[in-house]
Amino acid sequence: MKVGIVGAGMVGSAAAYALTLSGSVTQVVLVDRNAALAQAQAEDIAHAAPFASTTQVRAGDYDALDGAGVVILAAGVSQKPGETRIELLDRNAAVFRDVVGQVLTHAPQAILLVASNPVDVMTDITTRISGLPAGRVIGSGTILDTARFRSLLAGHLGVAPRSLHASVLGEHGDSEVLAWSSARAGSLPLADFAAQMHAPLTEGARAHIDEGVRRAAYRIIEGKGATWYGIGAGLTRIVQAIAADQQTILTVSIRTPDVLGVGPVTLSLPRLVGRNGVSATVVPELDKGEADALRQGAEMLRDLAGAVTV
Ligand code: 2OP
Repeated sequence: MKVGIVGAGMVGSAAAYALTLSGSVTQVVLVDRNAALAQAQAEDIAHAAPFASTTQVRAGDYDALDGAGVVILAAGVSQKPGETRIELLDRNAAVFRDVVGQVLTHAPQAILLVASNPVDVMTDITTRISGLPAGRVIGSGTILDTARFRSLLAGHLGVAPRSLHASVLGEHGDSEVLAWSSARAGSLPLADFAAQMHAPLTEGARAHIDEGVRRAAYRIIEGKGATWYGIGAGLTRIVQAIAADQQTILTVSIRTPDVLGVGPVTLSLPRLVGRNGVSATVVPELDKGEADALRQGAEMLRDLAGAVTV
């Protein structure tokens, strides 16, 4: 499969690099309004390919997206230290009003994979501009927050992150919900597993993990200006699920007809991802606190997206 990436900044190029090392696609094409940047990133990443895969990497204009199975939208600005994702909305909405039409003209068959922030609202905007079915416009959503959650939990419990089934739901942002009550380690409820590992999840331990997940981007941006490796790997994971028609469960963001009575809203829930994009959504059991927090975040996202005209 050929993958297009619009936006050759840190996120787009990290995705190109991770995709290339994974060898899960045949071709990666980088497009950026700064053609020299796209060209330089493509050349640098192409030099990594011989060590790992046969993936071809090149830069091009929008017409180079012809035939792409997935186009990653990573164009626009990213947060400065202290800035929230939502503060990027007006600037990135303006960028997408131009970019989405260009992508559709040249790759009308592609699944669109949105990475730019605030990713849930940007995915909602992209869905509305494109007129595509909701399952074909996927936001990376909380795939990265879920990875952060599993990673921190794994450290606390002394178990591999891949043995943990624990999700972050809702907004990829400050209102996100760590779904503790449905989390499992192997086939065990989390609390049972933690007790057997002599690593109880006390209120303090949970608060520490919650803060670690929710504030991760702020800490990283403070230290190095932006985040890119985690999201590059997360985008690669979504592309792999599509390219190999895996029907794997990932927490990604799509426009959803109703969430807890809030009505149509774009946010992350566990969803089956395969060749045609998202084919189904599964809603985990939530306790009252989690459901209330998810509803509140959903209302905020619905209102924010509703205020943007496309
Ligand atoms: C992240 O969470 C900034 O959304 C980006 O890493």
